[in-house]
Amino acid sequence: MPSSVMPTPKTTASAAVSTVGLRKSYGDKTVLDGIDLRIPAGSVFALLGPNGAGKTTTVQILSTLIAADGGRAQVAGHDVAASPEGVRAAIGVTGQFAALDDLLTAEENLLLMADLLRLDKREGRKRARELLERFGIADVAGNRAATFSGGMRRRLDIAMTLVGDPKVIFLDEPTTGLDPRSRRTMWETVRSLVAGGVTVFLTTQYLEEADQLADRIAVLDGGRIVAEGTADELKARIPGSHVRLRFAGTEEYERAAAALSGAARDDENLALRVPSDTGMEALRALFDRLDAAGIRAADFSVHTPDLDDVFLALTGDGSTGTALHVKETLR
Ligand SMILES: Nc1ncnc2c1ncn2[C@@H]1O[C@H](COP(=O)(O)OP(=O)(O)OP(=O)(O)O)[C@@H](O)[C@H]1O
Ligand SMILES: [Mg+2]
Repeated sequence: MPSSVMPTPKTTASAAVSTVGLRKSYGDKTVLDGIDLRIPAGSVFALLGPNGAGKTTTVQILSTLIAADGGRAQVAGHDVAASPEGVRAAIGVTGQFAALDDLLTAEENLLLMADLLRLDKREGRKRARELLERFGIADVAGNRAATFSGGMRRRLDIAMTLVGDPKVIFLDEPTTGLDPRSRRTMWETVRSLVAGGVTVFLTTQYLEEADQLADRIAVLDGGRIVAEGTADELKARIPGSHVRLRFAGTEEYERAAAALSGAARDDENLALRVPSDTGMEALRALFDRLDAAGIRAADFSVHTPDLDDVFLALTGDGSTGTALHVKETLR
């Protein structure tokens, strides 16, 4: 196959998921107000957005669980409206809330899925075994799902979506509620899926997760995609790095503000936000300027923009999420 000899550049790779002008309303509430997406096959795409932004709604439309009111969507080459069976045969979906049968064991859950997908018995058992091994739950395969921890449930849930060998996998908030170690295990899982050629569409509220995993990120807010690009492209859209200097008294604060033109004031906290590189040279130069003016800062901190900043700058009023960063980011 030529494609294995010469990898297709991502920009021209065929789309695993594409949407044009996707719309959805509930009553008079517009949830999706024209969503355009194009996700190359074999990549990880992260849809970010605050609570209620429409992430799950998007996943539900793309996985044919609900119909859009307008626009078009294709998944794995099939139109969601015209060929929902084609879409379903090509995808795996892990919902925001696990879809396990608590009364069944891990293995029985997988075998049930194999039955639903009409795999023959022997093939089903083989597939279940492989997945139990791969997800590190082989030694508890005979235990009821009810006894599993959150991380184990998530892994079993994803294993279930893989029984049918899907080309595109939708993971709706795959790590919500997991501890940091389980989250990292899940990230490894996602990476191994992509290494195996699968396209992953995930939703998340964790910016670090999108940063870690996604080739491309779209931020959904107010029914629209408000930003789209790689993590680096998104970070480049907001003001750059800065140093925050705090002063012990008003007099020093005012003198520093006069000495450091271009610094943004935070009068309440007697702090200045100085746009600056964060390397040693730049920091030394900054402190030299303060020294020359005979001013000492009480403390300082160095900030490089991260996706949290992007998210808060782009979505809503910043009242959701890490309020800590709001003042830093938004003025
Ligand atoms: N079946 C429904 N009937 C009416 N409104 C709905 C329905 N499903 C979703 N909504 C509304 O659509 C909006 C988007 O919901 P959705 O679940 O897609 O958001 P989300 O981005 O997944 O949020 P979260 O981060 O909380 O999971 C919300 O305002 C929600 O209340
Ligand atoms: Mg949701």
